[in-house]
Amino acid sequence: MHVVGARPNYMKVAPLFAALSRWKNTVEQVLVHTGQHYDYQMSQVFFDELDMPDPDEYLGVGSGTHAEQTARVMLAFEPVLMQRRPDWVVVVGDVNSTLACALVCAKLNLRLAHVEAGLRSWDRSMPEEINRLLTDQIADLLFTPSPEADLNLLREGVSPAKIHFVGNVMIDTLVKMLPKARLRPVVANLGLHRASYTLVTLHRPSNVDVPETLTEIMAALNEMASRQAVVFPVHPRTRLQLEQLGQGAGRVRLIEPLGYLDFLALMDSAALALTDSGGIQEETTFLGIPCLTVRSTTERPITITQGTNRLVASKRQAILDAVELVEQRKDGPRPPIELWDGHAAERIAQVLLAQHGENPAGMND
Ligand code: UD1
Repeated sequence: MHVVGARPNYMKVAPLFAALSRWKNTVEQVLVHTGQHYDYQMSQVFFDELDMPDPDEYLGVGSGTHAEQTARVMLAFEPVLMQRRPDWVVVVGDVNSTLACALVCAKLNLRLAHVEAGLRSWDRSMPEEINRLLTDQIADLLFTPSPEADLNLLREGVSPAKIHFVGNVMIDTLVKMLPKARLRPVVANLGLHRASYTLVTLHRPSNVDVPETLTEIMAALNEMASRQAVVFPVHPRTRLQLEQLGQGAGRVRLIEPLGYLDFLALMDSAALALTDSGGIQEETTFLGIPCLTVRSTTERPITITQGTNRLVASKRQAILDAVELVEQRKDGPRPPIELWDGHAAERIAQVLLAQHGENPAGMND
């Protein structure tokens, strides 16, 4: 049983669903959507583009405070789990739906696998950090994207037997979809040219829910936009905050949230990405696009040590200085990151099948 809830989940589940579909006679798969995200552009468009089947169960929990949302997912998920009693529940990432479903699963003594385990920002004021820490403590199998995630888990006392370094499932989806994304006309349709614009996404409460912080960031973006196009697909949370701020977009091009393929196409052709997302730090590293992450910590340090990412404070001048540094520094190509190779989901499928005595031929360890 796979669980998805929010936008960053779909591209992590899609490759695993596809990998396990190759064992139709052995594996029955059930897809649960909690409904944490529900707008077409935050959910359905990804199902359509990533060739995912419609969810077998849609819990329709919607938005709310953290307690409301988490509790609603738990209440709605429990009867589904009691009725279907899967051999494994697979949760991905670090959103509220991840932790809510993990908790229900553990309380019913059903087996839980966590994909993208072991990431730590060391910042417990982030809701995602709490979701990661707790999910990892109760998971029976932990699939990690990078070696430092294994170390984090070992330090927290997780048994090595549970930990499997498999690589990055989100990069599986990127590798598969990139040729299709490159055929999309979105860059030209927006009147943009390759390597001549900055792509922005912001949605972290720490950046967008504090008016002074959002004002600082928007001031920097506006200044950047006087020299080069700045295109900003706006998350619903951010849209709300910008409206409340009552501040116009200035020179920044605010657009609706994009589907997977258009966003990937825009990222692939950008000169620079400026974001507070987790996944975009990894995707830009894979694509070799410079990335400025407007946060004081990252749970994905490998994108800094081996990738194109750098952290920047959410201050106007800090952002402008960092942009200038990126413009001056032209790095050559970097070696690929270990196991970010498009085959992470196959490795996960292999481990899951091995739990049941299946030994899929032709799969590498
Ligand atoms: C959630 C995740 C975050 C992830 C992000 C990706 C948690 C704690 N946070 O944050 O880790 O990076 O998703 O997008 O799980 N809204 C809509 N339509 C939607 C969904 C949300 O309008 O389809 C609006 C609502 O006003 C809602 C707000 O966005 O209250 C926030 O949504 P929520 O799911 O609580 O958190 P995100 O900020 O999306």
